[in-house]
Amino acid sequence: MAAQPTREDKFSFGLWTVGWRANDQFGEPTRPWLDPVESVHRLSERGAYGVTFHDDDVVPFGATAGERDTILARFRDALAETGMQVPMMTTNLFSHPVFKDGGFTSNDRAVRRFALRKVVRNIDLAAELGARTYVFWGGREGSEYDGVKDVRAALDRYREAIDLLAAYVKEQGYDLRFAIEPKPNEPRGDILLPTVGHALAFIAGLEHGDIVGVNPEVGHEQMAGLNFAAGIAQALWAGKLFHIDLNGQRSIKFDQDLVFGHGDLLNAFHTVDLLEHGSPSGGPAYDGPRHFDYKPSRTEDIAGVWASAEANMRMYLLLRERARAYRADPEVQEALAQAGVADLRNPTLADGETLRELREDRSAFEDFDADVAGARGYGFVRLNQLAIEHVLGAR
Ligand code: GCO
Ligand code: MN
Ligand code: MN
Repeated sequence: MAAQPTREDKFSFGLWTVGWRANDQFGEPTRPWLDPVESVHRLSERGAYGVTFHDDDVVPFGATAGERDTILARFRDALAETGMQVPMMTTNLFSHPVFKDGGFTSNDRAVRRFALRKVVRNIDLAAELGARTYVFWGGREGSEYDGVKDVRAALDRYREAIDLLAAYVKEQGYDLRFAIEPKPNEPRGDILLPTVGHALAFIAGLEHGDIVGVNPEVGHEQMAGLNFAAGIAQALWAGKLFHIDLNGQRSIKFDQDLVFGHGDLLNAFHTVDLLEHGSPSGGPAYDGPRHFDYKPSRTEDIAGVWASAEANMRMYLLLRERARAYRADPEVQEALAQAGVADLRNPTLADGETLRELREDRSAFEDFDADVAGARGYGFVRLNQLAIEHVLGAR
């Protein structure tokens, strides 16, 4: 049995996850409002080490300065009482009607200026609460119709916003990095920066891209039909996996935000294996928070909310245990060797070898027997079967 979650496991939850009242496009809320202070206590009791939130999750949009102070004082007390951390914070630039055409990329310049001000105020709070990551999820940055949005201008405005805010963080000396969270659609018909790859390309063009990375979410990549484990591997390769949103999704459809592992279980296994063990012969690849961004299904009552929060952590711990067993299995090691997985780490040219020398190497081409190499069996199916057997607890 997997151990109980502890603070060392670095599990964190968005307050908007357990706090979701389960209203959807077709139906009213099925659960009452949940006090963020209660969520801090309930998550702490269950072994989480942190909570994350949008500005409006704790302080309602439009609250006066005095109301904000009172609410934040009470929230800080809950953090102090429990020892819970706030590793990440973010901004709600999507709920209020003012953001219906986006925040940073609204066609309305006054809205863009308002959005920047809203973010700056919350970045100050993030720094004060000790958050190390600030997430940008641009759910409303996009459109439904191709002719209504100048995408190139929108990307200019997105870059302008992120660079301005990153420069501000540096000027203030805050120990804070940005993480852009891609999503292909929902709520907008098409969202800007729809996948990890789009976001990485955007970051490469920023002036202050050194403090900007990505916050990939399992379900968002899978909504685009993409492989999440492969996506975060590329983010790690680029040195840009600054944060992660773990949840579950069952194929290309609306954003389900299921419990982690309740969607593509095998991909979840390889995700945990990658985070914990790096690539096949490496060490830990990611040491940031294991952050859950899921929604307790609309069918659940409040007891079901806490049970589903526990399920996320339990899934992670079970998969971590399974990944350790997989790594330690001599048959897996042998199958990995037959598959040549570690061989891919060898550079294709020898140390100091030039392309000219390769061109002169007859064994590489003229005398190379492509038919013999083409007849090789890699044994990938056997390796995959072993992975599944470990996931099933059959080994
Ligand atoms: C979603 C997103 C959000 C963001 C959150 C943090 O699809 O709803 O995943 O939950 O993660 O807004 O910015
Ligand atoms: Mn989501
Ligand atoms: Mn998310």
